[in-house]
Amino acid sequence: MNQMNLDYHKPSLHGELSIPGDKSVSHRAIMFGSMAKGRTTVSGFLLGNDCLSTIDCFRKLGVKIEVEGTNVVIESKGMADWEEPKDILDTGNSGTTTRLMLGILAGSKLHTVLNGDASIGKRPMRRVIDPLRLMGAQINGRENGQYTPLAIKGNPLQAIEYTMPVASAQVKSAILLAAMHARGTTTIYEKGLTRDHTERMLRQFGAEIIAENGTISYKGGQDLSPAHVEVPGDISSAAFFLVAGALAKNSKVILHNVGLNPTRAGIITVLQEMGADIEVSNVDEHAYEPRGTITISTSTLNGITISGDLIPLLIDEIPIIALLATQAQGKTIIRDAAELRVKETDRIAAVVSELKKLGADIEATEDGMIIQGGKPLHGASLQTYGDHRIGMMGAIAALITEGAIQLDDSDCIAVSYPNFFEDLETILQSR
Ligand code: S3P
Repeated sequence: MNQMNLDYHKPSLHGELSIPGDKSVSHRAIMFGSMAKGRTTVSGFLLGNDCLSTIDCFRKLGVKIEVEGTNVVIESKGMADWEEPKDILDTGNSGTTTRLMLGILAGSKLHTVLNGDASIGKRPMRRVIDPLRLMGAQINGRENGQYTPLAIKGNPLQAIEYTMPVASAQVKSAILLAAMHARGTTTIYEKGLTRDHTERMLRQFGAEIIAENGTISYKGGQDLSPAHVEVPGDISSAAFFLVAGALAKNSKVILHNVGLNPTRAGIITVLQEMGADIEVSNVDEHAYEPRGTITISTSTLNGITISGDLIPLLIDEIPIIALLATQAQGKTIIRDAAELRVKETDRIAAVVSELKKLGADIEATEDGMIIQGGKPLHGASLQTYGDHRIGMMGAIAALITEGAIQLDDSDCIAVSYPNFFEDLETILQSR
């Protein structure tokens, strides 16, 4: 646990950053590269702890994975030749690793056990295991499979038709990964549009998938061909500097290499609707994941309501959007976001309690929060709850508070953004 005192004296921010690799795409690149027979190469890989947990799991399955800087080379003999690991597969703090691995391992020939840290031990897994069991998966864990550790006995699977009870890309992806080894065509009906990195990467690795208006069909038994994956920058990481640029005085920040997949870009919609001075340029309609540059300057903002289908498109950005809303004129209402309660921590409770400590006018609701903006914030000692996004929210808040902020644990930020403070340092102008 690394305590940190953040004493910035309301700086202005200027400069350019290249945003590090997308966490969701980095995980999937390792997973698909490990399933495809042959040599997959990845550039722009995120060296965050979550993605390193994914690499660690596949190495334990006998896949050769070399990392050099942000380049990764994966040499796999294909899933049929994976080795049965002699130890548990440690998924660390990563919900994506845990849930997607369940889908992959359910149809393998191996006996495996997945376990993660204390936060993973509290996160619901039945949402993934229920549909996998319908496909024939044999998975056991605490409370009938709700919680880790989870033991998986690989089993032949059958396709299912499944209507998702939650809008979750992790659940959708776990079913699709299992569907790859299932007999027949699996069809998933989404509750709301969620990030579609798995669908895009299936195509990139040569598989055919039909995805239209929230209905996804995938025929089992297709072989994957190895590929080269260029990971775009993570818009969820860029979000912290977008908010920083909008809130800090006399600032202009240019962020390059930002992933612009429309199923992730809700933060841009929110900034635009709140009246931010934001511009998207140099858009590269990359074959699989679009990317571009975002420029943001100090902005006058107004409160808005954020709800419904927009929520899954910005689910991870809500902590930093809440901070943004504390500085907008008028009220911001966030609803339909009950999923936040089952993230790395209960993010509704954590955001409300920590922003209150800074003097914000914010109340929790069952499925979101209500923020009355326009209150100046002051320093305080904040808890991160071991959650990277709560930690970064606190660090960005320190740029606008009267007085310093202490973070109880800044180490957790390395889960998704190991160079966060170095990047912040490069755009800090006056101290
Ligand atoms: C992710 C999906 C989201 C997101 C998480 C990463 C993914 O979770 O919160 O950080 O890579 O599929 P849910 O799909 O469960 O909402």
